Amino acid sequence: MAAPLGPSVRLRPTTPDDARTILAWYNDPEIVAPFDRFGVDDLESLRSAIAAAPSDPASLAPRYAVELGSESGPIGVVGHYRAHPVLEYLDVWYVLGRRDLRGRGYGKEAVRLLIDALFTSESLERVGATCDIDNLPSVRLLEGLGFRREGTLRAALFHHAAWHDVHVYGITRPEWASRRR
Ligand SMILES: CC(C)(COP(=O)(O)OP(=O)(O)OC[C@H]1O[C@@H](n2cnc3c(N)ncnc32)[C@H](O)[C@@H]1OP(=O)(O)O)[C@@H](O)C(=O)NCCC(=O)NCCS
Repeated sequence: MAAPLGPSVRLRPTTPDDARTILAWYNDPEIVAPFDRFGVDDLESLRSAIAAAPSDPASLAPRYAVELGSESGPIGVVGHYRAHPVLEYLDVWYVLGRRDLRGRGYGKEAVRLLIDALFTSESLERVGATCDIDNLPSVRLLEGLGFRREGTLRAALFHHAAWHDVHVYGITRPEWASRRR
């Protein structure tokens, strides 16, 4: 997949050298709270997971660093993974780790680039995503990109000492194509 490039951000494949920056974001409680947490917590495991991800469709490791034209180093990461052992779709996920840069459209642009790239390079008919029902920025990001809310999983995510409900979103190839015209 060529490095996807948008008006403000670009995606490039993550490398093990990004692990330290990413791990700091994963260890930020504000980020972990609403996020379907990636389970690897130590630096070496994260480095290995990033290196192994390209050959593992189910990997939850961050696949692309989000970079800004004017900034050096990643401002966030995005990923995708095969979410179901039988059903043929990929789920996407995203973190804008630089909290000072949120709310400027970078997250939405990065996810748009990711989905464009997935529908271009993979023979997929559906891209999905899940998010905590209280994660308003994520809900708005997905709905702003045209994702449909397909249902709600009850008590599916544990954080802050409580179980949380999770929305299931999806967008099909024709829906994505019609929004891009
Ligand atoms: C979700 C996340 C990636 C959004 O990144 P971002 O760059 O701030 O998002 P954008 O600026 O592109 O905004 C996307 C939408 O969310 C809205 N939004 C952004 N921040 C918001 C906030 N604090 N409250 C309400 N809405 C918000 C924007 O207005 C926009 O909606 P619009 O297109 O209808 O105007 C970022 O908040 C994040 O990293 N959160 C922690 C990790 C996480 O929760 N990931 C998702 C897991 S499902």
